[in-house]
Amino acid sequence: MIGRSYPNLMVARYAPLARGTRGGVDGVEGVGERERKGVRPLLQQVGEARRMYSPEWFSTFSATIPPVVIDREVEALAGLFPVAKYRRLLDVGCGIGRVAGPLAALGYVVTGIDVNPTALHEARRVAPGPVYVALDQRHVGLPGWRFDAAFVLWNSIGFISRDVDEATLGGLHSVIRPSGLLALDMYHPAWLAQHGDPPSPQQGDKTATVGRWLQGSRLHNRIEYPSGTVDQIDFDVYAPAELVAVVERLGYKLDRTMVWWDPSIAPSQDHARYQVLFRRT
Ligand SMILES: C[S@@+](CC[C@H](N)C(=O)[O-])C[C@H]1O[C@@H](n2cnc3c(N)ncnc32)[C@H](O)[C@@H]1O
Repeated sequence: MIGRSYPNLMVARYAPLARGTRGGVDGVEGVGERERKGVRPLLQQVGEARRMYSPEWFSTFSATIPPVVIDREVEALAGLFPVAKYRRLLDVGCGIGRVAGPLAALGYVVTGIDVNPTALHEARRVAPGPVYVALDQRHVGLPGWRFDAAFVLWNSIGFISRDVDEATLGGLHSVIRPSGLLALDMYHPAWLAQHGDPPSPQQGDKTATVGRWLQGSRLHNRIEYPSGTVDQIDFDVYAPAELVAVVERLGYKLDRTMVWWDPSIAPSQDHARYQVLFRRT
């Protein structure tokens, strides 16, 4: 069993998506001509990202999120960012564009950045509308672009270190206009520490096996797919107060905290994820 020695190990089994996945895309596929010219030199760590999130991760976990969940996220973001005031949106770590695409369909001008070109290629196919750019998030401040608001969903930050997170959040500060907004959707470490049981049973023999364990503030995920592919995905998680302190220090002001995008629910150990909205000062 994976990671058996960790007391808060979580093991789950997931049925993979039935259809096949795409792969083997070269470093800048999925990126438009404009971005190829302007941003290509910034493309970083493609090999590393590929090792972290395989095409099977996106087809098994990302592409199977129920539409009702995506609708809730899209509706919540559209509520936080009224299109008349916040038309230019940036999706950081956009993956296959599951939220960026629907927001573009609502009339937003959406840019999605991700370090994984295979995911961006899929995003262009299944969620057209946004501009998808292959870019390491820590370099988000380098291109000369401007946004009314940015969002980071599903804890798509924390992969390298807290210093790198600060570089990302600082870069976002330089590209979000004054009084613009930043929404972060994060795992709650206190919830993770308490939930060690498998969330779902094995479904037949076509399954992926997930071992998930928390070591300090680092969440480790080891995923084995039926094909034999293994993803090791590790990232930092932040307690809400800690996150607010870090982000406020970088020139943002807390606007509200939410659970499941509902500001009437306070983040706590009872909820796996929480969201925080900041205003850029
Ligand atoms: C948990 S997935 C979430 C994807 C998407 N936000 C969603 O909610 O479906 C994390 C994403 O972060 C991306 N990512 C990892 N490291 C990154 C980096 N340094 N810069 C940009 N994106 C990165 C991964 O490729 C992956 O698409």
